[in-house]
Amino acid sequence: MANDLFEAARTAMAKCHAPYSQFPVGAAIRADDGRIYAGANIEVVSFPEGWCAETTAIGHMVMAGAKRIREVAVFAEKLDLCSPCGGCRQRLAEFSDADTLVHLCDAEGVKKTVRMDELLPFAFATEVIG
Ligand code: THU
Repeated sequence: MANDLFEAARTAMAKCHAPYSQFPVGAAIRADDGRIYAGANIEVVSFPEGWCAETTAIGHMVMAGAKRIREVAVFAEKLDLCSPCGGCRQRLAEFSDADTLVHLCDAEGVKKTVRMDELLPFAFATEVIG
């Protein structure tokens, strides 16, 4: 089960810097190295410069040397089932497979689980860049 991911997301959420929205979010990734990488949303007074919890968690994963997301949990204490925003869907997809699991949580734990290809169907992808 993904209860450890939920707990890691909840713990990370407590470290958010969200003075503007007052909307704490936590995310926790289980990566291909078996380790958990978590993050919270970090806001900036110039509002568009802030970023999401999922993005913080991805940064931790990449800098630790892990390559792929096996599953990820997202939790926002003020919203049951905080579904990743559009930008984070693309960022998560960058490191996911079609069957990577995305666990949406409420205060009790994982409430709904979807596959990455359900969360971001018909995603942008191309082999002709570069
Ligand atoms: N937020 C996340 O961290 N993840 C999401 O998937 C949705 C939104 C954050 C961004 C901002 O700090 C706050 O929630 C309100 O939008």
